[in-house]
Amino acid sequence: MAERTEKVWRESGEGTGAIEAAADTIRGKLGRRRPKVGIVLGSGLGGLTQQFSDAVRIPYREIAGFPDTTVIGHSGELVVGRFAGKDVLAQAGRFHLYEGHSLSTVALPVRTFASLGVQTLLLTNAAGGIRRTFSSGTVMLIADHINLTFRNPLIGPVLPGEDRFPDMSDPYDQSLRELARMVAMDRRIPLQEGVYVQLLGPSFETPAEIRMLDRLGADAVGMSTVVEVIAARARGVRCLGFSVVTNLASGISPTKLNHEEVLETANRVRGELEGLVGGVIERL
Ligand code: HPA
Repeated sequence: MAERTEKVWRESGEGTGAIEAAADTIRGKLGRRRPKVGIVLGSGLGGLTQQFSDAVRIPYREIAGFPDTTVIGHSGELVVGRFAGKDVLAQAGRFHLYEGHSLSTVALPVRTFASLGVQTLLLTNAAGGIRRTFSSGTVMLIADHINLTFRNPLIGPVLPGEDRFPDMSDPYDQSLRELARMVAMDRRIPLQEGVYVQLLGPSFETPAEIRMLDRLGADAVGMSTVVEVIAARARGVRCLGFSVVTNLASGISPTKLNHEEVLETANRVRGELEGLVGGVIERL
């Protein structure tokens, strides 16, 4: 089976080249550090890296295959540093399908992290709140997700180290979620839990679409994370996700949606998110 996988990959003429090139660049900056924890920071949440000590910042333009980010609120750098007592590798600024990036580009940072030895990935995002009891500023632990992008980063040749048909029955690791709930309780940080749905974007949803997503079982809606988690799971990386409800979803919100509101709320909830992410990392 492994032999066959390798053959398919070689014949395709693509695959690990970009991942290994990016990993090599980053490896050269790690020094003695071997981060086993990765963090993906969503819209307006990149400020978390200010808490890192001994931080080394690597702009995307220095990393092969990493495009510059085009979204306001997303800086474009990987940051290696010490946070909550561990070496961590953070992606400050992610790549979205709505920017026109391919699935391989969206999943490249996660796959690169895995190649560098990251075993646990904490992902954050900004999301619209669908569940009626959510309000702007609610933090939701992602219990499960729905992929409504109708795309999958695993389509194509199987990359070395990845499963063809990865199990997705526990995409957001149960024991990590347990840990997150404990941290929230100990630190008295309010934490909800629910289902996240990823759409392509970039337009926000219509009220009819939100009613549909509600009936499908989604509690929060956004334009990221799911594709990255699929790639991470194919590599056996354990995932944990937090959505910051930056606005009530379309039709639930009394006002029109805009990206500025998303960034403002993300900034307001920063402290809580840092507490949760830091608390989990500390106890890993
Ligand atoms: N919809 C989709 N993505 C989002 C939203 C939203 O309401 N808020 C933040 N990201």
